Parts: sequence; structure tokens; C-alpha cells
Amino acid sequence: MSIPVDRTSTPRLDVEAVRHSRLTNTPSDHMFIAEFAHGEWRKARIQPYRPIPIAPFALGLHYAQIVFEGMKAYRRVDERIAVFRTDRHHERFNKSLVRMCMPEVPYDLFADAVHTFVDVERDWVPNGPDSTLYLRPFMFASEERMGVKPADEYLFLVIGGPFRPLYQKPLRVKVERTYSRAAPGGTGSAKCGGNYAAAMYPTKLANQEGFDQVIWTDAINHDHVEESGTMNLAFIINGALVTPALTDTILDGVTRDSVLTIARDSGLTVEERAISVDELAAGIANGTVTEAFGIGTAASVAPIGSITVDGVEHVLDVQPEAIMFDIKRRLNDIRFGHVDDPYGWMNIVGESVAAV
Ligand SMILES: Cc1ncc(COP(=O)(O)O)c(C=O)c1O
Repeated sequence: MSIPVDRTSTPRLDVEAVRHSRLTNTPSDHMFIAEFAHGEWRKARIQPYRPIPIAPFALGLHYAQIVFEGMKAYRRVDERIAVFRTDRHHERFNKSLVRMCMPEVPYDLFADAVHTFVDVERDWVPNGPDSTLYLRPFMFASEERMGVKPADEYLFLVIGGPFRPLYQKPLRVKVERTYSRAAPGGTGSAKCGGNYAAAMYPTKLANQEGFDQVIWTDAINHDHVEESGTMNLAFIINGALVTPALTDTILDGVTRDSVLTIARDSGLTVEERAISVDELAAGIANGTVTEAFGIGTAASVAPIGSITVDGVEHVLDVQPEAIMFDIKRRLNDIRFGHVDDPYGWMNIVGESVAAV
């Protein structure tokens, strides 16, 4: 597919500022947009970034048929620009769409939208090691209608902007035992807007108590950990990398899958299983739990420095030689092209080769 590009006549791009990460968390100059109506996708195009008209009765605004992805493009050491794991993000996007009763997006449309957008915005991709172009594909119900029903009309967009990770220093987190992010049979494993709205109030309360984030626990007994903020969780327990097994209350993180793959291939034992709050508290006290970290697109690997359980703080000593930082380095080496990409994760944009 060749997507028509209408370039902005008033670019805001400041190449030097972007390259040196002085310009972050600001939208880039363009956006991709396509419309779904009468059962088909049409009018796919790249246009200048600008507000879009939305009918006040648009179904998505009221009933939250809203699904998104968070992905990144990297400026490699050879100056080529590559998008990380487009296929896996597309797969999750469609799973979320199915759960929210929305039409799936064909792979070609998704990949062309993301890769063409990144190609147009290639000068917006900062230099590494931690800076990237954040990409936000999303879709919502645009049909104007009164009454609850799955919409017949949608908009699919890709927007983005240069980004530096949120979490730099070790996180202080609290185990959440009152509120829930997701319940069995609910939408926890979908990347839909409502999950994030539901998480905001408990997170605000935790912030007011001085915590960076909450660790969500299972909605039934609140005694097993699930995930944290916009990250999956992992621990080093007795030298093994241990992470909560995926359920329908946990988002299947692309970073999680990548970290587990790298960990296994570098000889680490990986366990995907239930992890109780008691196991963590006792393990930190007796020295068997040596590391705790969040894993996700935004932060990549974010160290956790303390976990508070029922008002008792359990402190972890975050050392530079920790296993989590070794895994992060291996992951970044692939992303930024310091080493070969043995898994075919990087999609070079603007060249006929799809993957390296
Ligand atoms: C709730 C939640 N869990 C986990 C993750 C990590 O997923 P990924 O590694 O695909 O970014 C995210 C971020 O997308 C998230 O929003």
C-alpha cells in the first residue's frame, strides 16, 4: 500500500533539539489517519498533526470503545531508523479490538501506517541510548449515535513524539490491596482506554502517600501480584527470573516477552507463575528476592527500590551490576543495532527490506 502524504507547510521540527533530547513529550509534525465505514477501511493518509472533528455523540466518547498501542522507533548506530516488533504490537492491537467488539485492523494497514509515519517523521527520532520516537496507534468509535451499541464507524490514527523514559531512579511502590485494575473475565488483558481511567484514582492516592506507583494484586483476594502502572513485573528470586504468569487480568507486554526471550537465551532460568505478596515480603527479608523491576515500552526496564506491603516498607538494594540492567543492555544493543538482531524484531523503515 502506498499512503498519500500531505506534508505540513509549517513544521515545528528543530532537528538539533530533537537529536539531543531537548524536545520531548511533544507531538511530531504529522499524523496518520484512516476511516472505517460500511465494513471497509478508506481514506488512509498522512497529514499535518492537528485536532480532528468529533461529534459530541460519537459512541467512543461515551461507551469507551477505545483501543491503543504504545511502541517505539529507534535511531540505530548506523543511522537507520527501526521500529520494534510491529507484528507483536499489531497482534495485541487486534486482540484488544476483538475484546472491545471493534473491527480488526489488517496487518498491512497497521504496518504501513506505522512505518510510513515513522519514515515521514524520521528527523523526529532522537539519538539513543534512552531516547526514542514514541508511537501511539489508536482506534476509537467515531459513529454519531444515541444509545449503547458497538459502533459501525471508527477512526484509526498513528501519532507520536520524541520521548525519554519516565522512570529514571528506583521506584518506590505500594502493594494495592483495596482497589483493582482488572477482574477475571474483564478487560485487563486488553489495551483499552477504560483500564487506564480505572487505575487513575488508586494511583493518585498512592502518589499522595509518596509512592511512585501501585503494584496491582488479583481482584479476588488481593494476595498475588499482577502488574504495576504501565509495566509488567519481574523479580530475581534465588537467581531465577520470575514473573507473574499471563492471565486475562494482565497485559501481555511486548517488552515482557522480549525480556523473557533474552533471559532464557542468556542462560537464566525463567519462571512464569503466580507470585504471592507474602513470598515477596519474606523473600526480600531473607535475601532470596534480590531484584524487582517493571518492564514496559515506556520505561524499558525500571528498577524497583522498595515495596510497601500493608504499611511495611521492604527495601531492595539496586546495584549497577544487577541482572535486570544486563538484560536491559542486551535489549538495547538489539534495538540500537550494536549487535545483530537474532529474533527479527527490528523493522527498518524507508528501505525495501522489511527486517534485519
Ligand atoms: C497495563 C500495562 N501493563 C504492561 C505494559 C507493558 O507492555 P509493553 O511492554 O508492551 O509496553 C503496559 C504498556 O503498554 C501497560 O499499559
